[in-house]
Amino acid sequence: MNHADNFPNHVAIIMDGNGRWAKKRNRQRTDGHAKGAAVAIDIVLCAKKVNIKYLTLFAFSAENWNRPKREIALILSLVENHLKNKATELKENGIRFKTIGNLGDLPKSTVDLIDTVSDMTSGCTNMVFTLAISYGGRQEIRAAAEKYKNSGNPIGFDSYIQSAFLPDPDLLIRTGGEKRISNFMLYGLAYTELYFLDKYWPDFSCEDLKAAIKEYKLRKRRFGDLI
Ligand code: FPP
Repeated sequence: MNHADNFPNHVAIIMDGNGRWAKKRNRQRTDGHAKGAAVAIDIVLCAKKVNIKYLTLFAFSAENWNRPKREIALILSLVENHLKNKATELKENGIRFKTIGNLGDLPKSTVDLIDTVSDMTSGCTNMVFTLAISYGGRQEIRAAAEKYKNSGNPIGFDSYIQSAFLPDPDLLIRTGGEKRISNFMLYGLAYTELYFLDKYWPDFSCEDLKAAIKEYKLRKRRFGDLI
Protein backbone atom coordinates (compact mmCIF):
# COMPACT_ATOMS: atom_id res chain seq x y z
CA MET A 1 0.00 0.00 0.00
CA ASN A 2 1.26 3.47 -0.85
CA HIS A 3 1.50 5.93 1.97
CA ALA A 4 1.10 9.63 1.60
CA ASP A 5 4.59 11.13 1.55
CA ASN A 6 4.30 12.27 5.13
CA PHE A 7 3.51 8.90 6.70
CA PRO A 8 6.46 7.52 8.70
CA ASN A 9 7.87 4.45 7.00
CA HIS A 10 10.20 3.60 9.89
CA VAL A 11 9.29 4.32 13.51
CA ALA A 12 11.91 3.72 16.22
CA ILE A 13 11.06 3.77 19.92
CA ILE A 14 13.10 4.19 23.11
CA MET A 15 10.91 2.47 25.69
CA ASP A 16 11.86 4.35 28.84
CA GLY A 17 10.31 4.60 32.29
CA ASN A 18 9.59 1.01 33.30
CA GLY A 19 11.38 1.43 36.62
CA ARG A 20 9.70 4.72 37.49
CA TRP A 21 6.30 3.32 36.52
CA ALA A 22 6.83 0.53 39.07
CA LYS A 23 8.25 2.84 41.75
CA LYS A 24 5.23 5.12 41.52
CA ARG A 25 3.11 2.08 42.38
CA ASN A 26 5.42 0.84 45.15
CA ARG A 27 6.25 -2.19 43.07
CA GLN A 28 9.51 -3.84 41.98
CA ARG A 29 11.29 -2.45 38.89
CA THR A 30 10.90 -5.89 37.38
CA ASP A 31 7.09 -5.48 37.46
CA GLY A 32 7.59 -2.40 35.29
CA HIS A 33 9.61 -4.41 32.79
CA ALA A 34 6.99 -7.17 32.76
CA LYS A 35 4.21 -4.71 31.94
CA GLY A 36 6.56 -2.93 29.51
CA ALA A 37 7.27 -6.12 27.59
CA ALA A 38 3.55 -6.86 27.20
CA VAL A 39 3.01 -3.30 25.95
CA ALA A 40 5.90 -3.72 23.49
CA ILE A 41 4.13 -6.64 21.83
CA ASP A 42 0.83 -4.71 21.72
CA ILE A 43 2.62 -1.84 20.01
CA VAL A 44 4.20 -4.18 17.44
CA LEU A 45 0.72 -5.41 16.48
CA CYS A 46 -0.67 -1.87 16.55
CA ALA A 47 2.14 -0.63 14.28
CA LYS A 48 1.35 -3.32 11.76
CA LYS A 49 -2.35 -2.43 11.91
CA VAL A 50 -1.70 1.24 11.17
CA ASN A 51 0.56 0.13 8.31
CA ILE A 52 3.98 1.12 9.55
CA LYS A 53 6.53 -0.79 7.49
CA TYR A 54 9.47 -0.79 9.92
CA LEU A 55 9.28 -0.68 13.69
CA THR A 56 12.43 -0.75 15.82
CA LEU A 57 12.26 -1.09 19.60
CA PHE A 58 15.21 -0.42 21.92
CA ALA A 59 14.90 -3.27 24.41
CA PHE A 60 18.38 -3.53 25.91
CA SER A 61 21.36 -1.24 25.45
CA ALA A 62 25.05 -2.13 25.50
CA GLU A 63 25.19 0.00 28.68
CA ASN A 64 22.33 -1.94 30.33
CA TRP A 65 24.86 -4.74 31.03
CA ASN A 66 25.92 -2.58 34.00
CA ARG A 67 22.56 -3.13 35.72
CA PRO A 68 22.16 -5.70 38.52
CA LYS A 69 22.41 -9.30 37.23
CA ARG A 70 18.90 -10.09 38.41
CA GLU A 71 17.36 -7.25 36.42
CA ILE A 72 19.31 -8.21 33.30
CA ALA A 73 18.18 -11.82 33.61
CA LEU A 74 14.58 -10.71 34.03
CA ILE A 75 14.64 -8.46 30.94
CA LEU A 76 16.21 -11.21 28.81
CA SER A 77 13.74 -13.80 30.05
CA LEU A 78 10.86 -11.44 29.21
CA VAL A 79 12.24 -11.07 25.70
CA GLU A 80 12.54 -14.86 25.38
CA ASN A 81 9.07 -15.60 26.77
CA HIS A 82 7.30 -13.02 24.65
CA LEU A 83 9.12 -14.07 21.51
CA LYS A 84 8.27 -17.70 22.21
CA ASN A 85 4.61 -16.98 22.92
CA LYS A 86 4.08 -14.50 20.10
CA ALA A 87 6.13 -16.05 17.28
CA THR A 88 3.09 -17.60 15.60
CA GLU A 89 1.07 -14.40 15.92
CA LEU A 90 3.94 -12.41 14.41
CA LYS A 91 4.06 -14.81 11.48
CA GLU A 92 0.28 -14.81 11.01
CA ASN A 93 0.42 -11.04 10.81
CA GLY A 94 3.19 -11.09 8.24
CA ILE A 95 5.66 -9.48 10.64
CA ARG A 96 9.31 -10.24 10.02
CA PHE A 97 11.46 -10.33 13.15
CA LYS A 98 15.03 -9.02 13.09
CA THR A 99 17.57 -7.80 15.64
CA ILE A 100 20.41 -5.32 15.83
CA GLY A 101 23.05 -5.40 18.53
CA ASN A 102 25.87 -7.59 19.71
CA LEU A 103 24.22 -11.00 19.96
CA GLY A 104 27.58 -12.49 20.94
CA ASP A 105 27.11 -11.08 24.44
CA LEU A 106 23.71 -12.70 24.96
CA PRO A 107 22.99 -16.05 26.60
CA LYS A 108 22.65 -18.98 24.19
CA SER A 109 18.97 -19.46 25.05
CA THR A 110 18.19 -15.89 23.95
CA VAL A 111 20.24 -16.19 20.75
CA ASP A 112 18.62 -19.53 19.88
CA LEU A 113 15.17 -18.07 20.24
CA ILE A 114 16.10 -14.99 18.23
CA ASP A 115 17.41 -17.27 15.47
CA THR A 116 14.28 -19.44 15.55
CA VAL A 117 11.84 -16.53 15.33
CA SER A 118 13.97 -14.71 12.73
CA ASP A 119 14.00 -17.86 10.54
CA MET A 120 10.33 -18.58 11.12
CA THR A 121 9.28 -15.09 9.97
CA SER A 122 11.91 -14.60 7.25
CA GLY A 123 9.30 -14.73 4.48
CA CYS A 124 6.99 -12.14 6.08
CA THR A 125 6.52 -8.91 4.18
CA ASN A 126 3.92 -6.74 5.97
CA MET A 127 6.28 -5.14 8.48
CA VAL A 128 9.82 -5.56 9.80
CA PHE A 129 9.98 -5.56 13.59
CA THR A 130 13.56 -5.03 14.74
CA LEU A 131 14.56 -5.47 18.35
CA ALA A 132 17.68 -3.57 19.40
CA ILE A 133 19.25 -5.81 22.02
CA SER A 134 22.72 -5.49 23.54
CA TYR A 135 22.82 -2.55 21.12
CA GLY A 136 24.81 0.67 21.15
CA GLY A 137 24.97 3.25 18.37
CA ARG A 138 28.62 4.13 18.89
CA GLN A 139 29.55 0.44 19.10
CA GLU A 140 27.71 -0.09 15.80
CA ILE A 141 29.66 2.70 14.09
CA ARG A 142 33.00 1.52 15.52
CA ALA A 143 32.33 -2.05 14.35
CA ALA A 144 31.45 -0.76 10.88
CA ALA A 145 34.66 1.30 10.75
CA GLU A 146 36.69 -1.75 11.68
CA LYS A 147 35.03 -3.93 9.01
CA TYR A 148 35.36 -1.17 6.44
CA LYS A 149 39.05 -0.76 7.18
CA ASN A 150 39.65 -4.48 6.83
CA SER A 151 37.58 -4.74 3.64
CA GLY A 152 39.93 -2.66 1.52
CA ASN A 153 36.78 -1.36 -0.19
CA PRO A 154 37.16 2.34 -0.94
CA ILE A 155 33.41 2.95 -1.19
CA GLY A 156 30.30 1.85 0.65
CA PHE A 157 30.98 2.56 4.33
CA ASP A 158 27.24 2.71 5.05
CA SER A 159 26.76 -0.94 4.10
CA TYR A 160 28.96 -1.97 7.05
CA ILE A 161 26.57 -0.40 9.56
CA GLN A 162 24.67 -3.33 11.10
CA SER A 163 21.30 -1.58 10.82
CA ALA A 164 21.91 -0.73 7.13
CA PHE A 165 19.20 -3.20 6.10
CA LEU A 166 16.72 -0.70 7.57
CA PRO A 167 15.78 2.64 6.03
CA ASP A 168 16.69 5.59 8.29
CA PRO A 169 14.05 6.10 11.00
CA ASP A 170 11.54 8.81 10.07
CA LEU A 171 10.18 9.18 13.57
CA LEU A 172 11.83 8.49 16.93
CA ILE A 173 9.54 8.25 19.95
CA ARG A 174 10.91 8.31 23.48
CA THR A 175 8.69 7.78 26.50
CA GLY A 176 9.53 8.57 30.12
CA GLY A 177 10.16 12.31 29.95
CA GLU A 178 13.89 12.35 29.13
CA LYS A 179 14.83 14.25 26.01
CA ARG A 180 17.86 12.46 24.70
CA ILE A 181 18.99 9.84 22.19
CA SER A 182 21.03 7.64 24.59
CA ASN A 183 23.28 5.92 22.03
CA PHE A 184 20.40 4.68 19.89
CA MET A 185 20.82 4.36 16.08
CA LEU A 186 23.19 7.33 15.95
CA TYR A 187 24.05 6.92 12.28
CA GLY A 188 20.48 6.59 11.04
CA LEU A 189 18.93 9.29 13.22
CA ALA A 190 20.65 12.19 11.43
CA TYR A 191 17.40 13.65 10.04
CA THR A 192 14.82 11.80 12.10
CA GLU A 193 11.91 13.70 13.63
CA LEU A 194 11.98 13.41 17.43
CA TYR A 195 8.88 12.97 19.58
CA PHE A 196 9.16 12.91 23.36
CA LEU A 197 6.38 12.21 25.81
CA ASP A 198 6.27 12.15 29.59
CA LYS A 199 4.25 8.97 29.89
CA TYR A 200 6.16 5.95 31.19
CA TRP A 201 6.50 3.09 28.70
CA PRO A 202 4.09 0.69 30.49
CA ASP A 203 1.34 3.32 30.01
CA PHE A 204 2.07 3.79 26.30
CA SER A 205 -0.82 2.74 24.06
CA CYS A 206 -1.80 2.30 20.45
CA GLU A 207 -3.56 5.68 20.73
CA ASP A 208 -0.26 7.27 21.79
CA LEU A 209 1.44 5.80 18.73
CA LYS A 210 -1.31 7.19 16.52
CA ALA A 211 -0.95 10.62 18.19
CA ALA A 212 2.80 10.61 17.49
CA ILE A 213 2.15 9.77 13.83
CA LYS A 214 -0.44 12.53 13.64
CA GLU A 215 2.10 15.05 14.91
CA TYR A 216 4.78 13.68 12.57
CA LYS A 217 2.48 14.31 9.61
CA LEU A 218 2.44 18.02 10.49
CA ARG A 219 6.22 18.31 10.52
CA LYS A 220 8.04 19.84 7.55
CA ARG A 221 11.10 17.78 6.75
CA ARG A 222 13.78 19.63 4.84
CA PHE A 223 16.84 17.41 5.17
CA GLY A 224 18.99 20.53 5.23
CA ASP A 225 17.47 21.76 1.98
CA LEU A 226 15.45 24.96 1.43
CA ILE A 227 12.11 23.45 0.41
C1 FPP B 1 13.75 1.26 30.23
O1 FPP B 1 13.19 1.49 31.49
C2 FPP B 1 13.47 -0.09 29.79
C3 FPP B 1 14.39 -1.08 29.68
C4 FPP B 1 15.80 -0.89 29.97
C5 FPP B 1 13.99 -2.44 29.28
C6 FPP B 1 12.95 -2.49 28.22
C7 FPP B 1 12.69 -3.89 27.87
C8 FPP B 1 11.48 -4.39 27.69
C9 FPP B 1 10.25 -3.59 27.83
C10 FPP B 1 11.36 -5.81 27.29
C11 FPP B 1 11.10 -5.84 25.81
C12 FPP B 1 10.56 -7.12 25.46
C13 FPP B 1 10.03 -7.41 24.24
C14 FPP B 1 9.41 -8.69 24.05
C15 FPP B 1 10.07 -6.48 23.13
P1 FPP B 1 14.11 1.83 32.72
O2 FPP B 1 14.35 0.58 33.49
O3 FPP B 1 15.34 2.54 32.26
O4 FPP B 1 13.15 2.78 33.51
P2 FPP B 1 13.55 3.98 34.47
O5 FPP B 1 14.25 5.00 33.60
O6 FPP B 1 12.22 4.47 34.95
O7 FPP B 1 14.40 3.41 35.55
